[in-house]
Amino acid sequence: MSNYPQGLLDFIQQSPSCFHAIDIIKKQLTANGFLQLLESDSWELEAGKSYFVTRNLSSIIAFKVPRPDFVSFHIVASHSDSPTFKIKENAELEVSRAGAKYTQLNTERYGGMLCAPWFDRPLSVAGRVVTQENGKIQTHLVNIDRDLVLIPNLAIHMNRQANDGYAYNAQKDMVPLFGDGCAKGSFLKTVADSCNISEKDILSTDLFLYNRMPGTIWGANEEFISSPKLDDLECAYTSLQAFLNASHNKSASIYCVFDNEEVGSGTKQGADSTFLQDVLGRINSAFGRTREQFHMAVASSFMLSADNAHAIHPNHMDVSDPTNLVEMNQGIVIKYNANQKYTTDAVSAAVFKNICNQAGVPYQSFTNRSDMLGGSTLGNISNAHVSLNTVDIGLAQLAMHSCYETAGIKDIDYMIEGIKAFYNSCISMDADGIYQIER
Ligand code: CO
Repeated sequence: MSNYPQGLLDFIQQSPSCFHAIDIIKKQLTANGFLQLLESDSWELEAGKSYFVTRNLSSIIAFKVPRPDFVSFHIVASHSDSPTFKIKENAELEVSRAGAKYTQLNTERYGGMLCAPWFDRPLSVAGRVVTQENGKIQTHLVNIDRDLVLIPNLAIHMNRQANDGYAYNAQKDMVPLFGDGCAKGSFLKTVADSCNISEKDILSTDLFLYNRMPGTIWGANEEFISSPKLDDLECAYTSLQAFLNASHNKSASIYCVFDNEEVGSGTKQGADSTFLQDVLGRINSAFGRTREQFHMAVASSFMLSADNAHAIHPNHMDVSDPTNLVEMNQGIVIKYNANQKYTTDAVSAAVFKNICNQAGVPYQSFTNRSDMLGGSTLGNISNAHVSLNTVDIGLAQLAMHSCYETAGIKDIDYMIEGIKAFYNSCISMDADGIYQIER
């Protein structure tokens, strides 16, 4: 086993919220010599140097431009967010009956989670607070980093239908318990103390619940890895490792992690924003290239939209497509959908398969059963802003959108090797329908 599975678990452990995920990515990039840019500054770029820029502290784009006359952009995109519960304003909720008192935290759902796994396990709170200090608005990352809240199940004796399929009510069943009656009034103080600020300086918060259970490697031959947030931090992590260790002297390597995929990407920092388009345009201008050269580069450019895929389930084999069965530890999944929720088409699949074949990386195909609607992802949304050849890929996993998901250990290395081979190549459009891949 390589060091990457443990590296992935460490990465996720340090990413209790999307803000923390971007922060750890920034740190890894900085440690590798990348320079931070601000969208609000003028960009003066040098060929051969490496840069990154964040938006909202929850999305990031990093890039390496080998020379001003680069041919194409080689882009890999994944997402930083996962389904969770967001803590509402005025979060403390006191419930009492005949003198019995509890303090709960009022929350709402973020994304489409499986509810059941969130019950009866220690949870904590992470995200950011925004303060007013010394006349400035400032952001602080928050991770309370101890077992703090829990969503208790109702006992089977009081809900005999619990095992017959239960409709969870987010406002009734899913509210986490924070303390007894004495806890009232202490939540924001707990938040402030965790990041060494004063409670009175807090103006606003973006705080989320997270599962405290650390990831683990398990199975008869340690072939599985389970952890919170594998969707999609597994792709964010593997593509980062590939990005740091590969490049081609004729193509610009671009690494993107977008927030808000789980809620449709339609935010200023999501895949349905101008972020990617803005960064690519600014790279082009910073090297003195014309608008015409930008369009030429985009026509030869290629994107891997990397977001996890469903492995065949041992207890529910019938819900998978009859001829495209995806297995863990069998390689990178290429995702297809006739209605183009996944961007993959014959050309983009062929280019990617060619790259994988050359690198000796296995791959497999995923489609939904024809009578089931699948999820959506980043690629087709991003393509509405910067339109380029794109293939949707991911790694096979079980229990997507549970707060504890399971994937295959070998696939981590396959993904890193496959994406490295992509960044180590230069794709160019030669003629209508004809592409060349240089290595
Ligand atoms: Co995802």
